[in-house]
Order: sequence, then structure tokens, then C-alpha cells
Amino acid sequence: MRAHVAVQTAAFAEKILNHVQTPPATMLDIGSGDGLMAWAALSRWPRIDITMTDISPALLSLAQREAASRGAASQCSFVLANAETLESIIDNSQDLVTSRSALAYVVDKPASFRAAFRVLKPGGILSIAEPLFREQALSTSKLQEAAYAETDNPLPALLHRWKAAQFENPFDSLQQNPITSYTEQNLLGFASQAGFENLQMELHVEERQAPPRGWEVFCAMSPHPLAPSSGEILATRFSAVERRILEAALRPRVEKGAFSITSRMIYLCGCKPNIQALNPPA
Ligand SMILES: C[S@@+](CC[C@H](N)C(=O)[O-])C[C@H]1O[C@@H](n2cnc3c(N)ncnc32)[C@H](O)[C@@H]1O
Repeated sequence: MRAHVAVQTAAFAEKILNHVQTPPATMLDIGSGDGLMAWAALSRWPRIDITMTDISPALLSLAQREAASRGAASQCSFVLANAETLESIIDNSQDLVTSRSALAYVVDKPASFRAAFRVLKPGGILSIAEPLFREQALSTSKLQEAAYAETDNPLPALLHRWKAAQFENPFDSLQQNPITSYTEQNLLGFASQAGFENLQMELHVEERQAPPRGWEVFCAMSPHPLAPSSGEILATRFSAVERRILEAALRPRVEKGAFSITSRMIYLCGCKPNIQALNPPA
């Protein structure tokens, strides 16, 4: 499972960087976490200078230690900065701004696009990948309909309560939660309003069969980092009787891998207009 996630996240990083044709001298990663984007960029462009930004001091320290162990300490800097402002990052200083699964957590996403635009040099590239959770969240409403329709079978109502603990419902709550408040069209609009041009956006939808898993492994998982794990939901939101009904229904399917998992990823890239190129000196 961990190996699969590592392969998948490495693939996301490569796809973000594939949009960059000219090797950048400077790159800033928004919500850099433990440094996924930075290590991918360093292996492509060994001379690049990278600024990792995050709101988590612990993750920045972790990335700093990793940079040292990779012999890349002199090329990496670590800045505590909110994506909405990128405070302390100098205007027009970066050739490339990246982000992977970080803007999803940001409340004021338009402000993040404006901040990325500000710190990019004219002609600089923004390339990001963000998950789209909205469809999964909307499926909570579908389960709610099923729960009301089947009064003699307790399972749909229990499944609806489970899903509602992972993804809020109804529609108004989706708008309040930063990870479900946006669509791919919204991100495209925010980038355009911030001033980016030559925008390209791709929605990559992947449906695959879940691998067979132990029940305990399944219980430790959650569909996104802000959701409680299935085990926590079972323990805190259901009675012993309800837990038994849910486990009897779900455990055989989990252990056989008898359901599919759909993931949706938005890739977006654009360029800050190069005013000098448009107006060459006379
Ligand atoms: C799912 S992790 C992704 C980390 C990394 N980008 C990667 O691809 O592995 C989300 C990251 O976004 C950061 N983050 C969340 N909200 C943020 C904000 N408002 N400004 C900057 N970073 C933020 C978190 O601290 C975390 O490191």
C-alpha cells in the first residue's frame, strides 16, 4: 500500500515538472510538506535553487534534514509562509512555482494564485496538481437519498452516516470546506483572474480496483488527510450493534478488494506574461 502511494505521488510530481521546458534556476514549492516536489526537481535539474514554503514548522525541519542528507542544503531554503500571501518571498524572484496537494487546504485560493503570480518572474511558470474531492463529497447526498428510500434495511442509513463523517453534507457545507469547495473550472478561473496566461488544465480521473486489504489496514485509512480514519469513525459514531452491521457488510468486500476506488487530480499550468518580450526595448 505505502509503495503504491509513493509511486503514485512520485508520478504526480513528475507530471507537474513535465510542463517545464527550460531548466529553471529558481523554484518555489507551495505547501512543500516533506519535500516531494523539491527532490523530484533536484534530480531533474541538479543546479536549481529551491525555496520550500509551508505553514508547518515540523515539516519544514524534516525537509531541511532531508536536504542535508541529500547534500543539497546549500541549494534549498525553508520559509514558513502561508500560501495565501507567501509573505517574505520577494516579488519577481522565481522561474517556477509548483504545488502538489497543498492549495486544496487553503481557504482563500484566489489569494494563493495572486501570491504565486507576484513571486514569479515575468515569463515564469506555475505548475500545480490538486486533488478533486467534490464528486466523492457529493456522493454523500446520494447515500442520503438511499438511506431515506430503504426503511427496512439499516445499512444505507449507516453508510450515509459513515460517509458524512468523511465528507460534509449538504451542499452548503461543501462550499465552506476548503477541500471540497472548488472544481477544476474554479482553479482555472482563479489562475486566469490572477493574470496567468497560456493556461492548460487537465482533469485526470482514474478508477481502479481496490487491492485486497486486511480490515485493520482499511480501518486505519481515510479518504483525505482532514477526514477521520474509518476506525475512528466506527469507534466514535456508531453503537456496538451498528458497528457489527457495518463490519459484516464491508469486511468481506474489503478483504476481497471487491470495490473500486476513483481518484481525480487536476493538473494546471500557466505562465506569467513576459512584458519585456511583448515590449522589447527600442
Ligand atoms: C498533503 S500535504 C502535501 C505536501 C507536499 N506538497 C507533497 O506533495 O507531498 C499538504 C501540505 O500543505 C501544507 N499546507 C496546508 N495549508 C497551507 C497553507 N495555507 N499554506 C501553506 N501550506 C499549507 C501542509 O502543511 C502540508 O505540508
